[in-house]
Amino acid sequence: MEKIVSLCKRRGFIFQSSEIYGGLNGFWDFGPLGVELKKNLKDFWWRRNVRERDDMEGMDGSIIMNRAVWKASGHEETFSDPMVDCKECHSRNRADQLPEKNGEKYCPNCGSRKLTEPRDFNLMFKSHAGPLESDDNLVYLRPETAQAIFVNFRNVLDTSRQKLPFGIAQIGKAFRNEINPRNYIFRSREFEQMEIEYFCRPEDGMRLTDYWLEERLKFYEDIGIPRSKIKIHDIPDGDRAFYSKKTYDLEYEFPFGVSELEGIAYRTDYDLGKHIEHSGKPLDYFDEATKERLVPHVVEPSAGVDRTTLALLCEAFDEETVTDEKGHSETRTVLRFHPRMAPIKCAVLPLLKNKPPLVEKARAVASSLKPLMNVFYDEAGAIGRRYRRQDEAGTPFCVTIDFDTIGENGPEKQDTVTLRHRDSMQQERIALADLKAYLLERIL
Ligand code: GAP
Repeated sequence: MEKIVSLCKRRGFIFQSSEIYGGLNGFWDFGPLGVELKKNLKDFWWRRNVRERDDMEGMDGSIIMNRAVWKASGHEETFSDPMVDCKECHSRNRADQLPEKNGEKYCPNCGSRKLTEPRDFNLMFKSHAGPLESDDNLVYLRPETAQAIFVNFRNVLDTSRQKLPFGIAQIGKAFRNEINPRNYIFRSREFEQMEIEYFCRPEDGMRLTDYWLEERLKFYEDIGIPRSKIKIHDIPDGDRAFYSKKTYDLEYEFPFGVSELEGIAYRTDYDLGKHIEHSGKPLDYFDEATKERLVPHVVEPSAGVDRTTLALLCEAFDEETVTDEKGHSETRTVLRFHPRMAPIKCAVLPLLKNKPPLVEKARAVASSLKPLMNVFYDEAGAIGRRYRRQDEAGTPFCVTIDFDTIGENGPEKQDTVTLRHRDSMQQERIALADLKAYLLERIL
């Protein structure tokens, strides 16, 4: 994990938030490569779950909503973690995550066993909307994106003319005042979620939960996280939320242990039911075929952008020993991202920077690719070193413009380039005319 954290900082994936002022616990910034990686993940999730489906609508709700939403959903009363105080050092910790020795829990900060009884700590960040700081205009930063979907169910249904089963999908920020943020970006206080609420008839809920489990496993495979790395935790009766008839947690083998990436929960009609009760509005559905009114049930696949980004980094990270032409061996650090997720898709490199025809040609090739993908142009340093820099960034393809490309070694090789593959380090010759199609086929 330390190696991954260090690479992420060194190469501009992830920085501590407000670092020059000492940082802020539980908050992170994504740098030039990190923002591309995260964007690729969110764009592919959106494409798979919204654009490629006829039964899904997208939306983007506000982060701050009427406080009544959180009263109805139960978050105001129950969205809390058990917290204990250490009587010696006064640090606060999650009661269910305390270390234990000889059956006795102790403070992870100072080791003392003098702890208070656990009490509930609500995780929602509070603020006030408007210039008055009173209880009347208390608002919360949303701790999940899902509620914006439930309260817009009627709006989306009326404007989209979907029929059951159909879903509403959303990607956005969520905030939780976690007692102990930990494991890098795994548990933070500001993060992003990718959530689907898939509405259905009650009799279809169980079947569709299994359908979504399969869909989501396929998704992870398509971004480069194999099924063998994902543990499906079928939450047993008694451990699930009381309204859920089935819940699967998808867990990934992180270096710090197997931990949750996503939850897929069959939540019955609990959420719409609560909003009907509290708002008095008709969030039900009229089934034309059976002429019956019903409150739809819902299956909720809810994934974390930051946790999946971390899983992508962990899955991609590799170190291998390679030997150069002179017989020297060295360690090659490489991020083996699926090309679809890679922050930079293609690096364009003129063989030498002091040969204007090479530079000119390379710049023209880079410009022609830029509208289609994230391209990096690099002319500084030995070509081998430039390849290594791209390996560390996870760039799947490097294109080198050399003297053959500009026709100095005869017309047969003119307008061909060297295409170098990140994973195998193999090089092949490819015609410039075929380059776009070749790359697009692999990165989409
Ligand atoms: N609407 C359901 C819901 O929010 P959750 O299990 O609390 O369910 C869903 O959250 C996902 O959001 C988690 O599986 C995880 O990927 C992500 N997530 C939750 N808390 C997080 C945190 N503190 N930091 C980063 N990601 C978090």
